[in-house]
Amino acid sequence: MGMYPDVQQKAQEEINRVIGSNRLPQFEDRQRPPYVDAVVKEVLRWHPVAPMGFRHMSSEADMCHGYYIPKGALIIANIWGFMHDPNRYCDLMRFHPERFLSIGDHNPEPDPHLFVFGFGRRKCPGNILADATIFLTMSQSLAVFNIGRVV
Ligand code: HEM
Repeated sequence: MGMYPDVQQKAQEEINRVIGSNRLPQFEDRQRPPYVDAVVKEVLRWHPVAPMGFRHMSSEADMCHGYYIPKGALIIANIWGFMHDPNRYCDLMRFHPERFLSIGDHNPEPDPHLFVFGFGRRKCPGNILADATIFLTMSQSLAVFNIGRVV
């Protein structure tokens, strides 16, 4: 928020407009402020908490897209790479929540929730709790604080 004060300002304006200033944002407001929702997505994408996921080991040999994967191989998902793939996201290192919104002829870029919590049966079991906590912490903080550099 300190590095991108314009993002903070837009999120605060949206919270004030959609939720007002008489109460704090609640979980029921999750879908209502689309810009704040996009900030949550960009927080997950920009610097993923688990950039290499967790390591897994193949229980048997297999072929995947032409690659031979021997039994016992360590498999590491490059979540950072998925989240900074120039074929999926533009202007990769910029914190830019608008990438997830439908604005004019811009189609929303892929939702990081599909990747940042891992994959398949071992996907992060805390993903719903984590997502809800990020939304509540972020929206409630922005409703009452201005975050900036120490002067
Ligand atoms: C933004 C927050 C979080 C992110 C990005 C995240 C991401 C991940 C990732 C990438 C994995 C590895 C999944 C895989 O192996 O494919 C994982 C596993 C796990 N996460 Fe999270 N996590 C978050 C928050 C949490 C929270 C809040 C909890 C618990 C309350 C939690 C509990 C776990 C557990 C227990 C596993 C291991 C699951 C297993 O190996 O079967 N995580 N997480």
